[in-house]
Amino acid sequence: MLSFWDMAYLTGLAPWDSGEPLRELVEMVKRGMIKPSKVLDIGCGTGSNVVFLASKGFETHGLDISRVALAKASKRAAAKGVKCFLHHLDFRDADKVSKLGDFDLAIDVGCYHSLPNGADRLRYINSLNKVLRKGGEYFLWCFVRGKSFSWGPPGVYENEIEQNYRERYDILESHRINTPFRDMLFTTCVR
Ligand SMILES: C[S@@+](CC[C@H](N)C(=O)[O-])C[C@H]1O[C@@H](n2cnc3c(N)ncnc32)[C@H](O)[C@@H]1O
Repeated sequence: MLSFWDMAYLTGLAPWDSGEPLRELVEMVKRGMIKPSKVLDIGCGTGSNVVFLASKGFETHGLDISRVALAKASKRAAAKGVKCFLHHLDFRDADKVSKLGDFDLAIDVGCYHSLPNGADRLRYINSLNKVLRKGGEYFLWCFVRGKSFSWGPPGVYENEIEQNYRERYDILESHRINTPFRDMLFTTCVR
């Protein structure tokens, strides 16, 4: 059966899927703030960010619950002539996720903030703890939760990231980014 995510990618009703890598990520690579390493994109969608990072010499692994998204990511990588390892997995499944091995960097653009409840988010963090090596970095983009939206993913309360991650992660920075749809919170952490 097709999931919500599969349907979104099949119908093109996926407004987040710009086909372009994220501006902050491009900027960090350009400035040498992140160097080629082994990176996991959690909820990689159609692969805009993994393909960009692969083109810059990173060993990229993209993971997504949607087979439709992964098929598109595979085509994008082939079109750009880069190698990306793509995994069909639910990131809340720590046993399966832990088989992927260790990563130097994990990024998440819109997966964590889509998870419907606190229990799912804690399962997600448990998986992250299994695959991000000690000293590894984690970059997270989330919509901020608030009264002003009527549709879209639940997003996060501004203090939620601090509360959920502080036990195992040092938060390096967290700031709001204005977008035409909803404000995003961009957080960088080190394990
Ligand atoms: C808002 S989209 C963002 C996709 C991509 N990161 C981007 O920026 O274009 C969220 C993605 O997370 C994936 N996703 C949602 N829940 C997931 C889960 N539990 N495990 C793995 N992927 C998941 C969806 O299939 C979707 O591709």
